[in-house]
Amino acid sequence: MPAFAGMTYKYMKALLTAARNNNLKPLTHTVNKHLIPLANKPMIFYALEHVASAGIKDIGIVINENDNEAPQIIGDGSKFNSRITYIKQTGGTLGLGHVIKVAREFLGNEKFLLYLGDNIILDNLPALVDHFENSDANCLLTLAKVPNPQRFGVPELRGNNIIRVEERPVYPKSEYAVAGLYFYDASAHIAAENIKPSFRGDYEISDIHTWLAQNEYNVIWKEIKNWWKDRGEPKDLLEGNKLILSNLSNSKREGTLEAST
Ligand code: G1P
Repeated sequence: MPAFAGMTYKYMKALLTAARNNNLKPLTHTVNKHLIPLANKPMIFYALEHVASAGIKDIGIVINENDNEAPQIIGDGSKFNSRITYIKQTGGTLGLGHVIKVAREFLGNEKFLLYLGDNIILDNLPALVDHFENSDANCLLTLAKVPNPQRFGVPELRGNNIIRVEERPVYPKSEYAVAGLYFYDASAHIAAENIKPSFRGDYEISDIHTWLAQNEYNVIWKEIKNWWKDRGEPKDLLEGNKLILSNLSNSKREGTLEAST
Protein backbone atom coordinates (compact mmCIF):
# COMPACT_ATOMS: atom_id res chain seq x y z
CA MET A 1 0.00 0.00 0.00
CA PRO A 2 2.36 2.76 -1.09
CA ALA A 3 1.30 6.40 -0.71
CA PHE A 4 -0.19 7.43 -4.03
CA ALA A 5 0.68 10.47 -6.11
CA GLY A 6 -1.93 13.15 -5.65
CA MET A 7 -3.06 12.04 -2.20
CA THR A 8 -3.31 14.48 0.68
CA TYR A 9 -0.38 14.25 3.03
CA LYS A 10 -0.91 14.54 6.77
CA TYR A 11 1.11 16.63 9.17
CA MET A 12 0.54 14.04 11.87
CA LYS A 13 3.67 12.07 12.76
CA ALA A 14 3.84 8.35 13.34
CA LEU A 15 5.93 6.61 15.98
CA LEU A 16 6.68 2.92 15.47
CA THR A 17 8.37 0.45 17.76
CA ALA A 18 11.08 -1.96 16.66
CA ALA A 19 12.99 -2.57 19.90
CA ARG A 20 13.66 -6.23 20.57
CA ASN A 21 11.60 -8.28 23.00
CA ASN A 22 11.71 -11.93 23.90
CA ASN A 23 8.27 -13.07 22.73
CA LEU A 24 8.33 -15.87 20.13
CA LYS A 25 11.32 -17.63 21.67
CA PRO A 26 13.47 -19.35 20.41
CA LEU A 27 13.19 -17.37 17.14
CA THR A 28 13.91 -14.10 18.92
CA HIS A 29 17.19 -15.36 20.37
CA THR A 30 18.73 -14.60 16.99
CA VAL A 31 16.37 -12.22 15.24
CA ASN A 32 14.44 -9.09 16.18
CA LYS A 33 10.74 -10.07 16.18
CA HIS A 34 9.77 -7.00 14.11
CA LEU A 35 11.97 -8.26 11.28
CA ILE A 36 10.54 -11.81 11.12
CA PRO A 37 8.79 -12.24 7.76
CA LEU A 38 5.03 -12.66 7.50
CA ALA A 39 3.84 -13.57 3.99
CA ASN A 40 7.38 -12.92 2.79
CA LYS A 41 7.93 -9.43 4.25
CA PRO A 42 9.43 -8.28 7.55
CA MET A 43 6.51 -7.86 9.95
CA ILE A 44 7.13 -4.14 10.54
CA PHE A 45 6.83 -3.38 6.79
CA TYR A 46 3.06 -3.80 7.09
CA ALA A 47 2.85 -1.05 9.71
CA LEU A 48 5.12 1.17 7.59
CA GLU A 49 3.07 0.65 4.45
CA HIS A 50 -0.15 1.20 6.35
CA VAL A 51 1.09 4.49 7.80
CA ALA A 52 2.32 5.62 4.36
CA SER A 53 -1.08 4.75 2.87
CA ALA A 54 -2.64 7.24 5.30
CA GLY A 55 -0.47 10.02 3.88
CA ILE A 56 1.82 10.25 6.91
CA LYS A 57 5.36 10.98 5.79
CA ASP A 58 7.26 11.65 8.97
CA ILE A 59 7.92 8.40 10.80
CA GLY A 60 10.04 7.80 13.91
CA ILE A 61 11.11 4.25 14.77
CA VAL A 62 12.27 3.47 18.29
CA ILE A 63 15.08 0.88 18.31
CA ASN A 64 17.46 -0.58 20.86
CA GLU A 65 20.55 1.45 21.62
CA ASN A 66 22.97 -0.81 19.69
CA ASP A 67 20.71 -1.93 16.86
CA ASN A 68 22.28 -1.54 13.42
CA GLU A 69 20.22 -4.29 11.81
CA ALA A 70 16.75 -2.67 11.82
CA PRO A 71 17.94 0.60 10.16
CA GLN A 72 19.83 -1.44 7.59
CA ILE A 73 16.83 -3.58 6.63
CA ILE A 74 14.16 -0.88 6.87
CA GLY A 75 16.19 1.95 5.33
CA ASP A 76 15.64 5.71 5.27
CA GLY A 77 11.96 5.55 4.37
CA SER A 78 12.27 5.94 0.59
CA LYS A 79 10.85 2.41 0.15
CA PHE A 80 7.70 3.69 1.85
CA ASN A 81 7.61 7.14 0.30
CA SER A 82 8.30 8.61 3.73
CA ARG A 83 11.13 9.91 5.90
CA ILE A 84 12.27 7.71 8.78
CA THR A 85 14.10 8.96 11.87
CA TYR A 86 15.62 6.28 14.13
CA ILE A 87 15.32 7.00 17.83
CA LYS A 88 17.48 5.02 20.25
CA GLN A 89 15.83 3.76 23.42
CA THR A 90 18.65 4.59 25.79
CA GLY A 91 18.59 3.20 29.33
CA GLY A 92 17.02 -0.16 28.34
CA THR A 93 13.61 -1.25 27.10
CA LEU A 94 11.45 0.17 29.84
CA GLY A 95 7.99 -0.16 28.31
CA LEU A 96 5.83 1.68 25.79
CA GLY A 97 5.41 4.68 28.10
CA HIS A 98 9.20 5.02 27.91
CA VAL A 99 9.02 4.83 24.10
CA ILE A 100 6.91 8.01 24.15
CA LYS A 101 9.39 9.65 26.55
CA VAL A 102 12.45 8.92 24.37
CA ALA A 103 10.63 10.22 21.29
CA ARG A 104 9.72 13.54 22.95
CA GLU A 105 11.97 15.67 20.77
CA PHE A 106 10.97 13.93 17.52
CA LEU A 107 7.26 14.27 18.29
CA GLY A 108 7.19 17.93 19.33
CA ASN A 109 3.72 19.14 20.30
CA GLU A 110 1.77 17.83 17.34
CA LYS A 111 -0.79 15.05 17.27
CA PHE A 112 0.77 11.68 16.55
CA LEU A 113 -0.02 8.01 16.26
CA LEU A 114 1.84 5.17 17.91
CA TYR A 115 1.86 1.89 15.97
CA LEU A 116 3.47 -1.18 17.47
CA GLY A 117 5.67 -2.78 14.81
CA ASP A 118 4.66 -6.30 15.83
CA ASN A 119 0.94 -5.70 15.26
CA ILE A 120 -0.80 -6.37 11.94
CA ILE A 121 -3.83 -4.14 11.48
CA LEU A 122 -5.78 -4.22 8.25
CA ASP A 123 -8.57 -1.82 9.16
CA ASN A 124 -8.96 1.52 7.42
CA LEU A 125 -6.17 3.72 8.85
CA PRO A 126 -6.98 6.91 6.88
CA ALA A 127 -10.52 6.79 8.35
CA LEU A 128 -9.14 6.42 11.89
CA VAL A 129 -6.70 9.29 11.35
CA ASP A 130 -9.54 11.53 10.11
CA HIS A 131 -11.78 10.49 12.99
CA PHE A 132 -9.12 11.51 15.53
CA GLU A 133 -8.14 14.71 13.73
CA ASN A 134 -11.77 15.83 13.53
CA SER A 135 -12.58 14.97 17.14
CA ASP A 136 -11.82 16.98 20.25
CA ALA A 137 -10.35 13.89 21.92
CA ASN A 138 -6.89 13.92 23.49
CA CYS A 139 -6.47 10.24 22.85
CA LEU A 140 -8.11 7.59 20.66
CA LEU A 141 -7.54 3.92 21.41
CA THR A 142 -8.31 1.10 18.99
CA LEU A 143 -10.01 -1.88 20.65
CA ALA A 144 -10.47 -5.42 19.42
CA LYS A 145 -12.67 -8.15 20.89
CA VAL A 146 -10.49 -11.05 22.01
CA PRO A 147 -11.08 -14.35 23.76
CA ASN A 148 -8.20 -13.71 26.21
CA PRO A 149 -8.17 -10.05 27.32
CA GLN A 150 -6.05 -11.01 30.36
CA ARG A 151 -3.01 -10.99 28.04
CA PHE A 152 -3.46 -7.30 27.05
CA GLY A 153 -4.29 -3.81 28.20
CA VAL A 154 -8.04 -3.92 28.94
CA PRO A 155 -10.28 -0.82 28.92
CA GLU A 156 -13.12 0.02 31.23
CA LEU A 157 -15.72 1.77 29.07
CA ARG A 158 -18.39 4.38 29.72
CA GLY A 159 -20.21 4.94 26.43
CA ASN A 160 -17.81 6.47 23.90
CA ASN A 161 -15.22 7.09 26.57
CA ILE A 162 -12.58 5.06 28.32
CA ILE A 163 -12.32 5.69 32.04
CA ARG A 164 -9.43 3.35 32.86
CA VAL A 165 -7.09 0.82 31.25
CA GLU A 166 -5.61 -2.07 33.21
CA GLU A 167 -2.51 -3.90 32.01
CA ARG A 168 -2.98 -7.69 31.98
CA PRO A 169 -5.77 -7.76 34.56
CA VAL A 170 -6.79 -10.98 36.28
CA TYR A 171 -10.45 -9.87 36.13
CA PRO A 172 -10.91 -7.89 32.87
CA LYS A 173 -13.53 -5.11 32.95
CA SER A 174 -14.47 -5.67 29.28
CA GLU A 175 -14.08 -8.20 26.47
CA TYR A 176 -11.77 -5.84 24.57
CA ALA A 177 -8.00 -5.66 24.23
CA VAL A 178 -6.35 -2.33 23.50
CA ALA A 179 -4.65 -2.97 20.14
CA GLY A 180 -1.24 -1.62 19.21
CA LEU A 181 -2.45 1.48 17.36
CA TYR A 182 -2.97 4.61 19.46
CA PHE A 183 -3.61 8.30 18.67
CA TYR A 184 -2.55 11.16 20.94
CA ASP A 185 -2.20 14.88 21.23
CA ALA A 186 0.57 16.51 23.28
CA SER A 187 -1.15 15.64 26.57
CA ALA A 188 0.47 12.17 26.20
CA HIS A 189 3.80 13.80 27.13
CA ILE A 190 2.33 15.27 30.32
CA ALA A 191 0.97 11.82 31.21
CA ALA A 192 4.32 10.15 30.40
CA GLU A 193 6.03 12.50 32.86
CA ASN A 194 3.49 11.73 35.57
CA ILE A 195 3.40 7.92 35.59
CA LYS A 196 5.71 5.73 37.67
CA PRO A 197 7.21 2.38 36.63
CA SER A 198 4.95 -0.61 37.32
CA PHE A 199 5.85 -3.63 39.47
CA ARG A 200 7.62 -5.12 36.42
CA GLY A 201 9.74 -1.97 36.11
CA ASP A 202 8.07 -0.70 32.91
CA TYR A 203 6.43 2.62 32.14
CA GLU A 204 3.14 1.05 31.04
CA ILE A 205 1.22 2.50 28.12
CA SER A 206 -1.96 1.50 29.99
CA ASP A 207 -0.94 3.79 32.89
CA ILE A 208 -0.66 6.71 30.44
CA HIS A 209 -4.25 6.03 29.32
CA THR A 210 -5.57 5.73 32.86
CA TRP A 211 -3.72 8.90 33.86
CA LEU A 212 -5.29 10.82 30.96
CA ALA A 213 -8.79 9.50 31.67
CA GLN A 214 -8.52 10.29 35.37
CA ASN A 215 -7.17 13.78 34.82
CA GLU A 216 -10.09 14.97 32.74
CA TYR A 217 -8.57 14.38 29.35
CA ASN A 218 -10.91 12.94 26.75
CA VAL A 219 -10.02 9.32 25.85
CA ILE A 220 -12.25 7.82 23.16
CA TRP A 221 -12.20 4.50 21.30
CA LYS A 222 -12.98 2.75 18.03
CA GLU A 223 -13.36 -0.94 17.47
CA ILE A 224 -11.14 -2.60 14.86
CA LYS A 225 -11.87 -6.00 13.34
CA ASN A 226 -8.78 -7.10 11.43
CA TRP A 227 -6.02 -7.31 14.01
CA TRP A 228 -3.28 -9.81 14.66
CA LYS A 229 -0.70 -9.81 17.42
CA ASP A 230 1.26 -12.83 18.57
CA ARG A 231 0.48 -14.33 21.94
CA GLY A 232 4.13 -15.08 22.52
CA GLU A 233 4.54 -18.37 20.68
CA PRO A 234 6.15 -19.12 17.27
CA LYS A 235 3.01 -20.95 16.10
CA ASP A 236 1.09 -17.67 16.32
CA LEU A 237 2.99 -16.60 13.18
CA LEU A 238 0.82 -18.95 11.15
CA GLU A 239 -2.30 -16.98 12.09
CA GLY A 240 -0.59 -13.70 11.12
CA ASN A 241 0.33 -15.18 7.74
CA LYS A 242 -3.24 -16.34 7.26
CA LEU A 243 -4.75 -12.90 7.96
CA ILE A 244 -2.40 -11.19 5.51
CA LEU A 245 -2.83 -13.78 2.76
CA SER A 246 -6.61 -13.79 3.02
CA ASN A 247 -6.65 -9.99 2.89
CA LEU A 248 -4.41 -10.09 -0.17
CA SER A 249 -6.66 -12.53 -1.99
CA ASN A 250 -9.80 -10.55 -1.03
CA SER A 251 -8.32 -7.29 -2.27
CA LYS A 252 -7.19 -8.94 -5.51
CA ARG A 253 -10.75 -10.15 -6.04
CA GLU A 254 -12.03 -6.64 -5.42
CA GLY A 255 -9.35 -5.19 -7.70
CA THR A 256 -7.83 -2.95 -5.01
CA LEU A 257 -4.91 -3.11 -2.65
CA GLU A 258 -6.48 -0.80 -0.07
CA ALA A 259 -6.85 -2.07 3.49
CA SER A 260 -10.30 -3.28 4.48
CA THR A 261 -12.65 -1.08 6.51
C1 G1P B 1 1.46 -4.11 24.70
C2 G1P B 1 0.67 -3.27 25.72
C3 G1P B 1 -0.76 -3.81 25.86
C4 G1P B 1 -1.43 -3.88 24.49
C5 G1P B 1 -0.56 -4.67 23.50
C6 G1P B 1 -1.13 -4.57 22.09
O1 G1P B 1 1.63 -5.41 25.16
O2 G1P B 1 1.37 -3.30 26.95
O3 G1P B 1 -1.48 -2.94 26.70
O4 G1P B 1 -2.72 -4.47 24.65
O5 G1P B 1 0.77 -4.15 23.46
O6 G1P B 1 -0.29 -5.19 21.17
P1 G1P B 1 2.85 -6.36 24.70
O7 G1P B 1 3.34 -5.90 23.39
O8 G1P B 1 3.90 -6.19 25.74
O9 G1P B 1 2.29 -7.72 24.67
